[in-house]
Amino acid sequence: MKVVMTGAAGFLGQKLIARILADPQLPSPQGPRAVTQLCLFDVVEPPIPAVSSAKSPAISTQVGDITRADDLTQLLGEQADVIVHLAAVVSSAAEADLDLGLRVNLDGTRTLLEVCRGLAQPPMVVFASSVAVYGGALPAVVTDNTALTPQSSYGAQKVMGEQLINDFSRRGLIDGRVLRLPTIAVRPGRPNAAASSFASSIIREPLQGETAVLPVPETLALNLLSPRAVIANMVHALGIPAADFGASRSVMLPGCCVAVSDMLAALERAGGPAARERVHAQPDAGIEAIVGGWPARFDTAKANALGFSADRDIDAIIAAFIEEDRIDAC
Ligand SMILES: NC(=O)c1ccc[n+]([C@@H]2O[C@H](COP(=O)([O-])OP(=O)(O)OC[C@H]3O[C@@H](n4cnc5c(N)ncnc54)[C@H](O)[C@@H]3O)[C@@H](O)[C@H]2O)c1
Repeated sequence: MKVVMTGAAGFLGQKLIARILADPQLPSPQGPRAVTQLCLFDVVEPPIPAVSSAKSPAISTQVGDITRADDLTQLLGEQADVIVHLAAVVSSAAEADLDLGLRVNLDGTRTLLEVCRGLAQPPMVVFASSVAVYGGALPAVVTDNTALTPQSSYGAQKVMGEQLINDFSRRGLIDGRVLRLPTIAVRPGRPNAAASSFASSIIREPLQGETAVLPVPETLALNLLSPRAVIANMVHALGIPAADFGASRSVMLPGCCVAVSDMLAALERAGGPAARERVHAQPDAGIEAIVGGWPARFDTAKANALGFSADRDIDAIIAAFIEEDRIDAC
């Protein structure tokens, strides 16, 4: 099976590649299938994680632009079985530059889907959407029937991408699966341009002896999912029969609803009082406006019925970071 990944140099791309290399067997609605070809695409050269595997797929990398049909035609060739579309400009960057966000997040997704129309068979396309599709005056608990009212350009671009994936699926041009991702924490590495970047920083940096800035009030609640659980859910999505999604290919993944104060308490449990003291409040109205507009409480009945799953609690999320990214809590 040929698996293509856009945004392969990014955070989730690298995690998913590592998962595929560790076990090049992926679910499909017809049963497990071996990945024989893994084609990685990004505007920067995608690194190949050092994971040893008995049966490695053939790996190719391509540097290109998701908005350029020629690049994508070269990437997909005559056939692709699964396309995991992760290339994007993330939330703060898309808010700061409307044209860039529209170009990459909307035009890029449309261009990819147009190129899919030329393939011999409709490919399965997994699209990473976001909790940012919700916003504004929301019910206390967001359900599968809550209207999509994004309050950021990034959220609006994700909604448009979702609609394209759904319409192309309805037409039988692709077999789409849209996963609305909660805020992912704890990300390894350095802070990025996502408005929610602090959700990782306030755990990651203090556990490594560094200070971190908290731009939002401690009462703010977030809906969190660990990278490990996101990747497990992406893999799970590949095995679900299309008909089980019903009238919409979109699904909000389950997460843990956690107040920042609970995150800080869990940080202290994992790293001691010294770790907690390394987090300093520095309010940022812009970040609070974006992240505070995202809902934190969900009833993810559809995702639960389809077999998607969340981490147990915030302690499990921190434990996954320490274990997976080999951090010695200090
Ligand atoms: N990490 C999260 O918290 C989160 C939450 C919700 C949704 N998502 C979505 O998941 C996906 C992956 O997120 P991530 O955290 O890995 O982001 P990331 O920023 O680490 O990776 C995105 C990748 O897209 C690439 N890219 C940007 N413009 C491109 C272009 N024009 N052509 C080709 N590649 C381009 C970047 O170089 C980068 O490697 C994105 O679609 C993002 O919107 C992430």
